[in-house]
Amino acid sequence: MRDMPIGVFDSGLGGLTCVKKLRKILPNENIIYFGDTGRVPYGNRSNETIKKYAYQDASFLKSKNVKAIIAACGTVSSVATELESDLDVFYTGVLKPTATKAVSYTKNGKIAVLGTSATIRSGSYEREIKTINPDIEVIVQDCPLFVPLVENGFTNKDNEITKLTVEHYLKNIKFLGADTVILGCTHYPIIKAIIGEYLGMEVKLIDSGSATAYHCADYLREHDLLNSSGVPGKTEYYVSDTEESFRKLAGIFLKEKLGENVFHIDISQFKKITN
Ligand code: DGL
Repeated sequence: MRDMPIGVFDSGLGGLTCVKKLRKILPNENIIYFGDTGRVPYGNRSNETIKKYAYQDASFLKSKNVKAIIAACGTVSSVATELESDLDVFYTGVLKPTATKAVSYTKNGKIAVLGTSATIRSGSYEREIKTINPDIEVIVQDCPLFVPLVENGFTNKDNEITKLTVEHYLKNIKFLGADTVILGCTHYPIIKAIIGEYLGMEVKLIDSGSATAYHCADYLREHDLLNSSGVPGKTEYYVSDTEESFRKLAGIFLKEKLGENVFHIDISQFKKITN
């Protein structure tokens, strides 16, 4: 089982924030990534649709014989909560690792959560934070335009449109003075430089993709499930839209040239999870 790959999925590019960190901290692991680029964004859809998509994504990864599944997606983690009990391999979403990290960082007891509309509507991060420490004040803000900006490559730190959008959504957070801000959608760390510049250096930004990568690494280590082959791991990327646009944008974010390791799949044929 140790030498089986780790499966990671998201609606699009966002989950790469988790993959990038996994590759850094666990360089011998093979990774299968699925980005549902044909159906992104998830965050403004109904709970029913998000659950259906999440089960299909997990079902695809199961078909690849993975030893662990990471929903590197705040939206899926918040809405498709039954997924964990329906899988017979280690599964984690982003909520718990991210909330735990944020609580350990805040000094003034004010944490802001940025997420998709579905994530914010679910109240998931607030619940998770309050379970760890009920005294923390939680400020929430949905930022529905961030995902399309990222998926369309508006990620350069000088991009005026993204800068204006960041100001629009974060004005209130800045005013209320949270010292810790959760980037609760995995797409958001891709524009972290712009968010950080607007909020100021004294505000700690918590990257949900990265926090979850560390959580998965800890689990695999504690359960003696780390790859033991001793050779550098490979990553394969699967997408539901064209390979070409993913190669381009993911390549920019990962700072490498993607080629034959990007494949297109028809996600609609994956329906049931077969354990
Ligand atoms: N990256 C995902 C999240 O963390 C999904 C964003 C979307 O598709 O709306 O919420």
